[in-house]
Amino acid sequence: MRTIKLGTSDLQVPVVAVGFWRLNRNTDVKTAEDFIKTAIENGANFFDHADIYGGGEAEKIFSEAIGMNDSIREKIMIQSKCGIVPGTSFDFSKKHILESVDGSLKRLNTDYLDVLLLHRPDTFMEPEEVCEAFDILKANGKVRNFGVSNENIWQMEYLRQNLNVPLVANQMQLSIAHCPMIQSGLNVNMFNDSAIERGSGIIEYCRLNKITIQAWSPFQYGFAKGTFIDNPDFPELNAKLSEMAEKYGVSKTTIVMSWILSHPAKIQPITGTLKKERMLECLKAADITLSREEWYAIYMSAGNILP
Ligand SMILES: NC(=O)c1ccc[n+]([C@@H]2O[C@H](COP(=O)([O-])OP(=O)(O)OC[C@H]3O[C@@H](n4cnc5c(N)ncnc54)[C@H](OP(=O)(O)O)[C@@H]3O)[C@@H](O)[C@H]2O)c1
Repeated sequence: MRTIKLGTSDLQVPVVAVGFWRLNRNTDVKTAEDFIKTAIENGANFFDHADIYGGGEAEKIFSEAIGMNDSIREKIMIQSKCGIVPGTSFDFSKKHILESVDGSLKRLNTDYLDVLLLHRPDTFMEPEEVCEAFDILKANGKVRNFGVSNENIWQMEYLRQNLNVPLVANQMQLSIAHCPMIQSGLNVNMFNDSAIERGSGIIEYCRLNKITIQAWSPFQYGFAKGTFIDNPDFPELNAKLSEMAEKYGVSKTTIVMSWILSHPAKIQPITGTLKKERMLECLKAADITLSREEWYAIYMSAGNILP
């Protein structure tokens, strides 16, 4: 599996990450074990978690499924997130961050996280508290690298000015059918809706500051509305994906992932499927680079516009 460096960290990560938002007690344990082991065998050994996934159980199910021990732990990289208190608030307080990490480590049956992300911006954030929490976690070895998720450039900049550690990643929703970060950059200073600032500059800011963008929900449109693949609301997109799939001799799933991987910003998509076969189709995308013309054609087939 092709790898990239995660931000300024010393982690060399597979270009496609595997996420566990959808892992819960309804998932068959044997299926989960097979899925995770297949991912590792195929070089997809970077796993994305959060303290709240699967109703707070995804991390535990994951570690049980693979029978976490020292020899497995050294073969994989684990990223988790904190800062969402479901249905209540977002919480970047020192207390919450430290308690959340302890909970994740216990559920994952490990001594450390390779990466910890702040999940969604908390408007009550005091950056000094985040700094204290991160310094403690770094010093006691519980977390090796830090990042954020769903943050705009000013939120990242404000944090970075107050932290003693670098931010190595910003995890953002990004797919062909949900790409305001890209649309607004392509429609600067226009009166059309795509020009509305919904994350413009994030890609350039992250490239400038060597922060890896991770793309969540690469197959979804809207906020948890479902996939656009084989969806009758996206006829042109599906026709274009089929055309490209035929050209490259792969599935539409692989082309969707390669659309993200072919962007020069070295974005790391995170797959969310729990089906082994589909995950392997996603990994195949690491071997395909779409041309500029193909990339733009797919972008426009989803209804995204150019000025
Ligand atoms: N930072 C954040 O705020 C945030 C938010 C959400 C998610 N995330 C992370 O991002 C990861 C990925 O998110 P996601 O699960 O929404 O990603 P996704 O890969 O876009 O979506 C996965 C879902 O789409 C279905 N799917 C995928 N490919 C398909 C295809 N070709 N045809 C039909 N259905 C298809 C899957 O069904 P099957 O299972 O049947 O394949 C699954 O239900 C999460 O696991 C989590 O780690 C982060």
